Amino acid sequence: MTQGTDSPSPPLPGSATAARGGVPGATAAARGLRVAVVGATGAVGAEFIALLAHRRMPLGGLRLLASPRSAGRRIDVPGIGACTVEALSDQSLAGADVVFLCAGSEISKACAPAAIRAGAWVIDNSSAFRADPDALLILPEVNGEALDAAAAAGDGPRIVAVPNCSTIIALLAVSPLRALARIRRMVVSTYQAVSGAGAAAMAELEQQARDWASGQPLHSPIFG
Ligand SMILES: NC(=O)c1ccc[n+]([C@@H]2O[C@H](COP(=O)([O-])OP(=O)(O)OC[C@H]3O[C@@H](n4cnc5c(N)ncnc54)[C@H](OP(=O)(O)O)[C@@H]3O)[C@@H](O)[C@H]2O)c1
Repeated sequence: MTQGTDSPSPPLPGSATAARGGVPGATAAARGLRVAVVGATGAVGAEFIALLAHRRMPLGGLRLLASPRSAGRRIDVPGIGACTVEALSDQSLAGADVVFLCAGSEISKACAPAAIRAGAWVIDNSSAFRADPDALLILPEVNGEALDAAAAAGDGPRIVAVPNCSTIIALLAVSPLRALARIRRMVVSTYQAVSGAGAAAMAELEQQARDWASGQPLHSPIFG
């Protein structure tokens, strides 16, 4: 696991979770969850890293993974320190209790089954498993109890998918209304933010704003 500069990187043995095939339970809670973030240099990965710190998640280790392009890059994780990004490999997820997949559908499809076999619960942020009947499609404010039930069943780690971002936002508003009355019809318009296209797109918008403000020509490698 990658740790802050003041901490040596301990080895990442097979977790107790994997050994008993259950959820990250008492053992993991005692030593802290071992978390891997795949896509740590991206827009979604950055949010997860910020949330882990913001919520003071008790961590037994944190591994930041991305493409080989980002290997060696340092990311400052509040409360932990500077962590080194590693290139994703077949061995990257061994020993993790929870894996956040934030690197797109193809990487999710490639990584999730191996992560499950290695004993980790998978939180997938792509569309890869949304329609998979074996995955849990969870929006905590709406059906978080389904995740609790799956954990309590003790059948081993599962892939947890999340709805599309505009669906999440719509359901947060609609679900309480649905509890009160039948919803017959919804008229929905979505306006996707630049951030939905990822970190590189946000950087492009920021650069274009700077160039526009200083009278420079605008470049659009992402949206051009
Ligand atoms: N942006 C949003 O608002 C949003 C919201 C919900 C869900 N999603 C979904 O979340 C996923 C990530 O989106 P994003 O916006 O965070 O994209 P992004 O900013 O472009 O980040 C992509 C991440 O994937 C990594 N990656 C790319 N190729 C890889 C490889 N071969 N092996 C390992 N890592 C690789 C990138 O690493 P490098 O930096 O090294 O290239 C980067 O960390 C997508 O499935 C997207 O649909 C996005």
